[in-house]
Amino acid sequence: MDPAHKRRHNHPARHLRVCGKVRKASTMIIQTIHMKSVTAEGQGTLSVFEASRDVPFDIKRIYYIHGAPQGTQRGGHAHKALRQVLWCPYGSILIRLDDGHEKSEVLLDDPAKGLIVEHNIWREMIWQQENSVLCVAADSYYEAADYIRDYDEFLKTVQAKG
Ligand code: TYD
Repeated sequence: MDPAHKRRHNHPARHLRVCGKVRKASTMIIQTIHMKSVTAEGQGTLSVFEASRDVPFDIKRIYYIHGAPQGTQRGGHAHKALRQVLWCPYGSILIRLDDGHEKSEVLLDDPAKGLIVEHNIWREMIWQQENSVLCVAADSYYEAADYIRDYDEFLKTVQAKG
């Protein structure tokens, strides 16, 4: 079995319950979820995902970024161990991903779309629309030491892993 196939085969996406989607950009695996959404006629839509069922980990922390003008760029770091799911309940935010070998982009412009970001992925978030809200659910409590904020250090870390 070639290594890329093995990685895809072993990927937690196969455990996802709700319309999980795995896009493979060459060797980089992009895992998105489509949240269950229930529309009440004339009363909007409720979207939901559940820890360890719809995302492949338990959730210990939720944070969100709001009040950012269009063109705002945030992120510019990777995590050594942290796993997260990102979603945009309002607006449109471009997520740039880089695994040290390859780069890819995902547009979060649908409140029911979630993006799983695994550890050792460099990410940048660019606000396409003023006041877009970025929500993040993470599998660990905040720990400054888990961040890699230097791109060269990130490249060394991931390239050492092969
Ligand atoms: P950071 O993760 O660098 O956000 P971004 O990449 O979007 O710019 O966090 C911004 C600041 O907030 C930084 O000083 C750390 C702090 N912070 C916490 O105190 N707790 C948290 O859970 C998070 C995510 C950030």
